[in-house]
Amino acid sequence: MKVLVIGSGGREHAMAWNLAQSANVETVWAAPGNGGTATEAKCKNTPASLGDPSALAVTEAGQDVLIGFVQREGIALTVVGPELPLAEGIVDRFRAEGLAIVGPGKEAARLEASKVFSKSFMRKYGVRAAGSENFTNPAEALSYAKKYFDGKQAPLVIKADGLAAGKGVVIAADLAEAESCLSSFMKDGSLGAAGSSVVLEEFLEGKEVSVLAAVSVQPGGKGVIKPFVSARDHKRRFDGGQGPNTGGMGSIAPVPDFTPIAQKDFETAILRPTLRGMEAEGMDYRGFIFFGLMVKDDRCSLLEYNVRLGDPETQAVLPLADFDFAGLCSAILDGTLAAFPLNWKPGAVCAPVAVADGYPGSYRKGDPITLNEAALAKTGARIFIAGARLDEAAAVPVLRSSGGRVLAASAWGADADQAWTKAYEALGALSFAGMAYRKDIGRE
Ligand code: AMP
Ligand code: GLY
Repeated sequence: MKVLVIGSGGREHAMAWNLAQSANVETVWAAPGNGGTATEAKCKNTPASLGDPSALAVTEAGQDVLIGFVQREGIALTVVGPELPLAEGIVDRFRAEGLAIVGPGKEAARLEASKVFSKSFMRKYGVRAAGSENFTNPAEALSYAKKYFDGKQAPLVIKADGLAAGKGVVIAADLAEAESCLSSFMKDGSLGAAGSSVVLEEFLEGKEVSVLAAVSVQPGGKGVIKPFVSARDHKRRFDGGQGPNTGGMGSIAPVPDFTPIAQKDFETAILRPTLRGMEAEGMDYRGFIFFGLMVKDDRCSLLEYNVRLGDPETQAVLPLADFDFAGLCSAILDGTLAAFPLNWKPGAVCAPVAVADGYPGSYRKGDPITLNEAALAKTGARIFIAGARLDEAAAVPVLRSSGGRVLAASAWGADADQAWTKAYEALGALSFAGMAYRKDIGRE
C-alpha cells in the first residue's frame, strides 16, 4: 500500500523510514517532508505544485488539497506527525471522505490544544497531576499568584491555554515574574488568543519521562492504550540542563531511571484513569498520545498530554520497534490494537540532535552537510533529518541546513553507554558549518 506522513521534522523522517520497512508498504509520501524523506528508500516528498507547504494540513484549503492528493494517488493510510493539523480538524475531514487516517479528531485533540480542557479532564477523571486552577480573568489570576507566593518558596508554573509553539509555559520564580507573565499573556495578548486563559499550576520537582503510546478508543466501545518504551527529551540548549529551552536537543530510550515500580505507578495513576476518561467522554481517539511525566521517588505526575508522538523522542523509540509500524497503524484504526504484539528490541538508543549555530536564537541556514559514509556505517547509526532540504540544483545534489535543529544521529547499543558512544561517533562522521550539539544526551 501507499502511505502518507504529514509533517516536515525529524519525527516524520523517523516515521517515514519505519513505515518504509514494512513489506506491505510500497511508497511513503511525506507532506511536505524534508531532505531526509526526499532521500530515504521508498519515500518521496509531495510535489511543490500542491502549494504553500506551511498551509498544507493546517488550513481547510490545504487539507482539501491533501485529500485530493490522497484520492488521486490511491493512498491507503495517512499518519499525522504534528499537533497543529490535528487541532485544526484534519482527522475529521479525512474521515468524512472515508479516508483512513491515524490521529485524534478535533474534539479529542483539545487534550493538547487546550490546557484548560486537559487540566479539567485530569481533575474530572482523577489522573494524578500537579494541583492547578484555570483562569480567564487577569485580576483573579494575579490574586491567586499573590496567595501562592505568600505560602510557598517554590516557583509557580503559568501555562497559556492554547497552542503556543513551545512558548506557552513559564516557570515564574517570584511574584514579579508571575505578574509580568500574566500581564503579557492575558492583557497584552503576546500569544494572541492562546494566552487569554491560563492554568496556574504548582511546581513539581523530579525527572521528566516521556511515555508515547498507541490509543484506540471509539464511542460506545471498550478502549485500549498501549504504552511504548519510555523515552527522555533534553530540552535545554547546553550540557547539564543549562541555557534556554529548545525544541529538544536529543533523546534516549528506554529511560534507565524509569523503574518497573514507576511504570506500574504510571499505569495505575495516569494511564488507566486517562483511558476511563476517554471512554466516558465518548471520544473517537484512534492515534498516538504522549504522556509528559514528572517522576520523583518512583511516583509519577502528569505534566501534559500531547496528542501525537514526541519529537525528538520518536527518533529514539522507533528504532527499537520490533513490529510493523504500518500494521500498528491499521490495528489502531480497525479496533484490533488489544491483540497487536507491541514488541521491543533489547538494548538502548541514544539520539543527540545537531543544531545550527545560534539556535534557539536566530541561526545560520543553507550550509551543506558532509557525511563520511564509511565512518557512519561503522556505527550502525541512522541519521534522521529535521531541518535540511535536498538541494537538487547543485551539481551533485546535497543536503543543506534549513532549520535550527538540523538532524539527529540515532544509534542503537546493547546498553545505554554503548548507544551513547556510537551516537557521538556518528555525529563525528558528519559536519556542516556551525554544527553544534550537547555531549550529555542520556547523561544529564
Ligand atoms: P508542558 O507543555 O505542560 O509539558 O510544559 C513544558 C515544560 O515545562 C515541561 O516539559 C516541564 O519541563 C515544565 N513544566 C510544566 N509543568 C510543570 C510543573 N508543574 N512543574 C515543573 N515543571 C513543569
Ligand atoms: N518532546 C516534546 C514534544 O514532542 O512536545
